[in-house]
Amino acid sequence: MNALLDNSTPSGKALSEFLKKYVTSIPDFSNVPLPETGLLDGMEEHPFNMTHFDDMYDTLLYSRLISRAIELFPQLQTIIDLGAGSSIPTLIALNNLKDQRPRVIAVDIDPKALAISKQNAEAVGLADHYSFKLGSMQTLLDSEIFKSPGNLIVSNPPYIPTPQGVEDYHLIPVDGGEDGTRYVQDILQCEYPRDTMLALFWGSLCNPSLVIPIMEERFEILHVHAVKVHFGNYTTLPVINTHLHELRAKGLIVFEDAPGRENQIVIGTILKPRRTS
Ligand SMILES: C[S@@+](CC[C@H](N)C(=O)[O-])C[C@H]1O[C@@H](n2cnc3c(N)ncnc32)[C@H](O)[C@@H]1O
Repeated sequence: MNALLDNSTPSGKALSEFLKKYVTSIPDFSNVPLPETGLLDGMEEHPFNMTHFDDMYDTLLYSRLISRAIELFPQLQTIIDLGAGSSIPTLIALNNLKDQRPRVIAVDIDPKALAISKQNAEAVGLADHYSFKLGSMQTLLDSEIFKSPGNLIVSNPPYIPTPQGVEDYHLIPVDGGEDGTRYVQDILQCEYPRDTMLALFWGSLCNPSLVIPIMEERFEILHVHAVKVHFGNYTTLPVINTHLHELRAKGLIVFEDAPGRENQIVIGTILKPRRTS
């Protein structure tokens, strides 16, 4: 297994046991160049340069997770993407399909992200397959759209731990609350209609000792992939980075503190609810 995983902390132990159970290897993507997607990344006004693999690894790996979920669930009619951002992940997955394509309901709290989503869907000729819902994923999880059976719910939610009191528009895509689990917990604790599947993208910075027991208790785990990547722009921001080091010292999150290069593990999971409504 990976040197990054050590059993001496609660989250290190939970994560290494989880990964030992479900994956045979953890590929090292910490030095992979960004493939050119030709699509906008949804953060037009972002002050960072969003063209490196560091910034896009989750988008691309999340897209791969969605494709895998579609393979496992070929009859599906509708994908609901919670925190869709630019919609690049679902667009790549749908674009790769030869036959029938599901429709996508793209949900995001940020109107600018949804505007870019629409632009991207038009650019690849898939706008007819999309509807866009502006609002919080929590509201959607309680809504009628969500209650119909047989959907694939997908999400790469904000899951980076962010200290309390840091309110910044630019952190909306990543701010998962103090320990990173705010949205992941909402998604995992939700009551799902029958025949629903969930593809959830998260990682070692999102309190594995809290998240894994909930996941294993509430879901059958159908697929896991885990990849080592280095910190992106957000996780190296001083205010977040200091907080991450504090959480790591408490054994709540897992990352490798290599000199000049911090590495984390991102995890794609495909889950089937054990109990449905
Ligand atoms: C990590 S980004 C993922 C974006 C895109 N799905 C991807 O993988 O490239 C998380 C997204 O969730 C959105 N978001 C943040 N808080 C949200 C909320 N409460 N409800 C819905 N979307 C939210 C952000 O605007 C952002 O687009």
